[in-house]
Amino acid sequence: MTQFCYSSLGQKALTISGIGELMDDLGQAMTVRPDLLMLGGGNPAHIPEMEKVFRESMEDILRKPGTYERCVGDYDGPRGSPAFLTALAKLLKTQYGWAIGPENIALTNGSQSAFYVLFSLFAGHFADGSFHKILLPLAPEYIGYADIGFAPRQSLFASIRPRMEFLDNRQFKYHIDFDTLSIGPEIGAVCVSRPTNPTGNVLTDDEIARLRTMTRAAGVPLIIDNAYGLPFPGILFEPATLSWDENVILCMSLSKLGLPAARTGIVVASPEVIRAISETTAVMSLAPGSIGPALALNLIQSRRIIELSQTIVRPFYYQRMQDAVGLLRDKLDGIDYCMHKPEGAIFLWLWFKNLPIPSAQLYQRLKQCGVLVISGHYFFPGLEHDDWPHKYQCIRITYSQKESVVQKGIQIIADEIKAIYAGA
Ligand SMILES: Cc1ncc(COP(=O)(O)O)c(C=O)c1O
Repeated sequence: MTQFCYSSLGQKALTISGIGELMDDLGQAMTVRPDLLMLGGGNPAHIPEMEKVFRESMEDILRKPGTYERCVGDYDGPRGSPAFLTALAKLLKTQYGWAIGPENIALTNGSQSAFYVLFSLFAGHFADGSFHKILLPLAPEYIGYADIGFAPRQSLFASIRPRMEFLDNRQFKYHIDFDTLSIGPEIGAVCVSRPTNPTGNVLTDDEIARLRTMTRAAGVPLIIDNAYGLPFPGILFEPATLSWDENVILCMSLSKLGLPAARTGIVVASPEVIRAISETTAVMSLAPGSIGPALALNLIQSRRIIELSQTIVRPFYYQRMQDAVGLLRDKLDGIDYCMHKPEGAIFLWLWFKNLPIPSAQLYQRLKQCGVLVISGHYFFPGLEHDDWPHKYQCIRITYSQKESVVQKGIQIIADEIKAIYAGA
């Protein structure tokens, strides 16, 4: 075969990324290697009550004359289904009192693609020759950001180490270190996931308020990744307030509600940002998919989506989290570890102090034992040049998969960790 020449972006695409490895593992475990215990990727759980709701929505679409045919036979516009945009604007306005209309919302093919577009809109090379970065005020932060963009890997992000609060029961919590944080002229936007993937952290209302003040003063947007947050899927175990105005770009998703395959992301922002998003969607993929918005339309119009999030989704994950934490405490007894306080999302973040091997090697050893986790070192975009040992001592596990899978997986992780500390 001819050896093609690739652009810088092409070169970047041909080297393995953290998110690529993660999705590859996830794809294998979900299809050809069902024997692998999947404690790695961010696939949401199959919650029977939610599956029933989505099945009923689909049956409704199939029953109503012409609805299915329109849903699969017509492109939506580049901002997505107008009925969905109107219904969601109404829901957010009623729920939070925001000055918001359909012109403030665009749909994307999954929120992951929205981040690719947003980071490319606000960071990278600018017309005046300057290079702007995305500031992540707290690392560890979502692995899916790390390889975004056309710029060479590791140059798009700036970050700082967090402050650590040590709590009872081997738990700790990361906080933004506002003594160190500043938004310099090289910063094009600030981004946080809340609840945070990988740690389950929920930035406090005070931290968000301070970030809003700082970004407004610096004239840059604050991007809040709300994939697990309010009002849906609402996977939060601590009280938190959701706030928005046109300086904030709020990203939401239908994925963690139980519809990851529908690939529906939602961006709530100023009409100008929404225009840039929808223009980019038109160029890259013509339109966002129509199935997700069609499945969720009734739930948004009736506001049932909020009730389902509060009464089904959140309690489901809360119970799973409690079970996984209890099991880990039991199985890791005698090991010097800490766990981030699980305040939301679907993950536990484990920190093994003085781990004798780097976490990437721990990942490989666990994979050989049939358990997939994610090595923590991927979650520090913007801190690549910081040789902080903590970066290599953590792993992320998810408790979203079947209980038997989580239980077996945790047992194997504990056995392997004990063997490693014992020098095996
Ligand atoms: C924090 C966070 N943001 C964004 C995404 C992207 O989700 P999706 O593209 O399915 O909307 C994920 C997926 O795991 C995530 O964990």
